[in-house]
Amino acid sequence: MVSAATEIIASENSGLDGGWTVVLPRHAKRHRARPKLLFPKQKNQSWAPNDLQIDVGRESKLMQKIQICMKQLESSRFFELFLAQIHDHTVLDHFVRVLHSEPKMEMVIYGIGSIECFESPRLQLCLAILMKGKFDWIGDIKVFDPLLSATECRVLEALGCSVLTVNEEARRPAVKPTLFFMPHCEAVLYNNLLEANWRVDRLRNLALFGNSFGSYEQHLSLVKDPAVADSRKYILAAAQSFGVEFRIQTVSDYYFNAFHESCWHFFSPDNGHGLPIV
Ligand SMILES: C[S@@+](CC[C@H](N)C(=O)[O-])C[C@H]1O[C@@H](n2cnc3c(N)ncnc32)[C@H](O)[C@@H]1O
Repeated sequence: MVSAATEIIASENSGLDGGWTVVLPRHAKRHRARPKLLFPKQKNQSWAPNDLQIDVGRESKLMQKIQICMKQLESSRFFELFLAQIHDHTVLDHFVRVLHSEPKMEMVIYGIGSIECFESPRLQLCLAILMKGKFDWIGDIKVFDPLLSATECRVLEALGCSVLTVNEEARRPAVKPTLFFMPHCEAVLYNNLLEANWRVDRLRNLALFGNSFGSYEQHLSLVKDPAVADSRKYILAAAQSFGVEFRIQTVSDYYFNAFHESCWHFFSPDNGHGLPIV
C-alpha cells in the first residue's frame, strides 16, 4: 500500500543501485517481509515468473481464498457504494465518454501485488473482477505485476484474466478505450502511463483507477523537491489542467488498507487548446 506521502519519503531516500532500486517504506514494520521495487527505465522487457513450479495444492488454496474474498466483498456496504458511485451520472458520464462508440473497454491491471500473500491485493483483484461481472461494457482483463508467482499467474488465468508476458512499465498506449486499474501503484507508473498517452485522442480513451493525484500535488507543495516534482510532472500537469478525480469511499477499516486515497480519474483535454507542454 503506497499513499502519496509514503512514496515521496521513499523516493527521497532511494538511490540507484544498478538494476533494481529497493525502497524501504516508512511503515517498515508492516511491510518488512516484502521491500518495494522500483523499476529502471527500460521498455518492454519480456517477463515470466521466477518460479515455474506447478503446485496444484497451492493453487486450489489460493482459489479458495479468492472465492471467499469475492463473496465477502460482493455483499459488503463498500461494494454497494462503489457500484452506486459508478452508476451516478457524474462518474458514469465519464465512462460513457471514454467508451464513445465502442461497446467495451479493456481493463489492464498493473501493480496488483501478491494476491497469494496479502489481503489488499486480493480485495483489489476481486473488486476488478466483480466490476467486470456487473458492467457489460468492461472487456477482457489483462494483469501484470513483476512479483507474480507461477501459482498466482495460473489462478489469474483460471479466473478469466490473461497475464501479460511483457513488462510495459505502464506505458501501454490507449489506442482504444482502456480502463487502467492500478491500485496503490508507485507514482512513477502513473507518470509513465500519462507520458505514453500525452495526446488528446489517447487521454480521452483512458479511465484510471489509482492514487489521488490531488494528494500528490498537495504533498509536493510541502516537500518542494524539484527531482521528485520532475518524476511526477505528467501527474501534476494532468491534475492542474484537465484531470478530474472521484474518491472511493472506504467505509470501514477493513477496506481502508486496500482502497484508501483511491480514485477514479478521467481526462478531458480540450481539443482546441492542445496539451500543456511538460
Ligand atoms: C505499492 S505496491 C502495491 C501492491 C498492491 N496493489 C497493494 O495495494 O498492496 C506496487 C506494486 O507495483 C508493482 N510494480 C512495480 N513495477 C511494475 C510494473 N512495471 N508493472 C506493473 N506493476 C509493477 C510492484 O511489484 C508492487 O506489487
